[in-house]
Amino acid sequence: MEEKHVVGQVMITQEEIFSRAKEIGTQISKDYAGETVLLIGILKGAVLWLADVVKNITIDTEIDFMAVSSYGASTKSSGVVRILKDLDRPIDDMHVIVVEDIIDSGITLNYLKGYLKARGPKSIKFCTLLDKPTGRRIEFKADYVGFEVEDKFIVGYGLDYDQRYRNLPYISVLD
Ligand code: IMP
Ligand code: MG
Repeated sequence: MEEKHVVGQVMITQEEIFSRAKEIGTQISKDYAGETVLLIGILKGAVLWLADVVKNITIDTEIDFMAVSSYGASTKSSGVVRILKDLDRPIDDMHVIVVEDIIDSGITLNYLKGYLKARGPKSIKFCTLLDKPTGRRIEFKADYVGFEVEDKFIVGYGLDYDQRYRNLPYISVLD
């Protein structure tokens, strides 16, 4: 029989996400005052969070996207990172902020850090909606963190389980 998954209660509301996005967007505007930043959203999970953060950035901002493969239909990382969509242009003249939905093992962002650093950006930082520090298999620290969450499988607000639940306007847990 097909496994049934149930989406649990609201863990983080849209209003809480909006207010964190405002704080972080304001902080980024201060940290990079007088500069232009390039936000690199990691498809598809980071789209909703990136949209919230960027609206609160008051300095010059550009946006690009990358797609990397992660979990497929499993809730555990394979540990293998593959680039499915790369950047549209060089980044050697840019201050880069990578925007991610969640950091779990740290493998994806650690890989992207090396990959993007090799292209010689002026600087590189990481902004994530969620951080699951207990899931780390490799050390990784983000510069801007929306919320820390416990080691459960999270869905909603861009985060999926097998491509579902990205549309939930709140963060929830898959039971
Ligand atoms: P990491 O490489 O283990 O840090 O995993 C990062 C990626 O795995 C994220 O971009 C997510 O797409 C996915 N991921 C990790 N934890 C969760 C979760 O709880 N729910 C949904 N996706 C997750
Ligand atoms: Mg992802």
